[in-house]
Amino acid sequence: MTLSTPSIPVITLDGPSASGKGTVAERVAAALGFHFLDSGALYRLTALSAMKQGVALDDEARVAQLAAELPATFHDSAVWLADEDVTDAIRAEAVGEGASKVAALPAVRAALLDRQRAYRQAPGLVADGRDMGTVVFADATTKVFLTASAEARAGRRYKQLIGKGNSASLPALVADMQARDARDTARAVAPLKPAPDALLLDTTHMDIESAVQAVLAQYALLGT
Ligand code: DC
Repeated sequence: MTLSTPSIPVITLDGPSASGKGTVAERVAAALGFHFLDSGALYRLTALSAMKQGVALDDEARVAQLAAELPATFHDSAVWLADEDVTDAIRAEAVGEGASKVAALPAVRAALLDRQRAYRQAPGLVADGRDMGTVVFADATTKVFLTASAEARAGRRYKQLIGKGNSASLPALVADMQARDARDTARAVAPLKPAPDALLLDTTHMDIESAVQAVLAQYALLGT
């Protein structure tokens, strides 16, 4: 496997949860015909795998081994762990919490590094995460850091949950969002922060389509 492929363009989209970066990244990838990496899904899959196998989420060595051997695939518009469709399971709040915990373990991040870089394939890649522009694809062509206020992000998550028929409490979601941001920002390894050369895009008052256009404009400006 060739891991050093700097001639293939990469657009990195980093930012906190529910900043809209997942949807924006998918649409930018579709517009350019690029591949798409949802790196958060790999952390979620690692947490789910540990939870299923009864491995403690702070058992760094064992969780890292699970991450290295993750039988994860993305096909047929679904996410798979071996032959099990876990598309919905990895989106559960408990799995998101677990993902945030395992993502703080350096050995887990190291175990997922090569797997993420392997997504850099022609004609290009749009990579969505927390450390795409700072660590995984530090040489990316175009870097964007999406933000939105915790209240705006909690409001989006609230609408999603209610839309799927779940119950939700807005104040609890704001508190969860702030706690997860604090953990992702404060961790020693690959903390959530913009790369020095990233475009900062505050989507608090911006719709998805405007954010997509802003990313495409930045890519057009910087070229390949
Ligand atoms: O983007 P998401 O909500 O699916 O991410 C789940 C968790 O994984 C989140 O708490 C942060 C972590 N994560 C990370 O540390 N690095 C990434 N590149 C992507 C996600």
